[in-house]
Amino acid sequence: MITVADVKNDEEVKAIMYMAESQIEALGFTEHSVRHSSIVSKWAGDILEQIGADEHRIELAKIAGYLHDIGNSVNREDHAQSGALLAYKILTRMGMDYRDAAAIMMAIGNHDENQGLPVSDVTAALIIADKADVHKSRVRSNTTLMRIENWGNLNIHDRVNLAAEKSGITVNRGTGEIILNIIIDTDKCPVMDYFEIYFKRMQLSRRAADFLGWKFALIINDVRLL
Ligand SMILES: [Fe+2]
Ligand SMILES: [Fe+2]
Repeated sequence: MITVADVKNDEEVKAIMYMAESQIEALGFTEHSVRHSSIVSKWAGDILEQIGADEHRIELAKIAGYLHDIGNSVNREDHAQSGALLAYKILTRMGMDYRDAAAIMMAIGNHDENQGLPVSDVTAALIIADKADVHKSRVRSNTTLMRIENWGNLNIHDRVNLAAEKSGITVNRGTGEIILNIIIDTDKCPVMDYFEIYFKRMQLSRRAADFLGWKFALIINDVRLL
């Protein structure tokens, strides 16, 4: 079976991810680079592993996580759909089984909160992992550091990401919960700002956990909000 390590080393993947990154940088969005892809890959695999999925599904989730934002090489708009088709083409060219490649295509095509739904275990794990990556390292230094003296001038995505000291996913088998834990510096960003941009993403994460037969919990600064 094709592994996530094979995918990371593939020259076509490297070229497309480079182009996705440069388009996102040109547009001034929060980064969607190899750092984000690698974290989403790891967390998506961890979620399935901890809820007891088999090795095969875990590897598919890791690959879906790594490739989920490659559609940004085409256009930010509808990047989930374009990325899904690109991933299918690359993975079948690499020799992946058609059904596995199709499972990854479907997961990537459903990862965005505007059109996506948790339609499989791999999709659900990808959604939760992607929406959980909120961190100050995602803000582009070149667009932000010039303005950092004045928080009010930052766009809300930058403000929320810069205020996020830490975020991570844990699975509590005892309570049956998949937990998103975020530490936010509330001097830099009120928790309400977080909700303003992340409400839709949290709703989708909750649906994703439901699909897996687990509950979704959100804890910000040690306070349980969901
Ligand atoms: Fe995305
Ligand atoms: Fe993403």
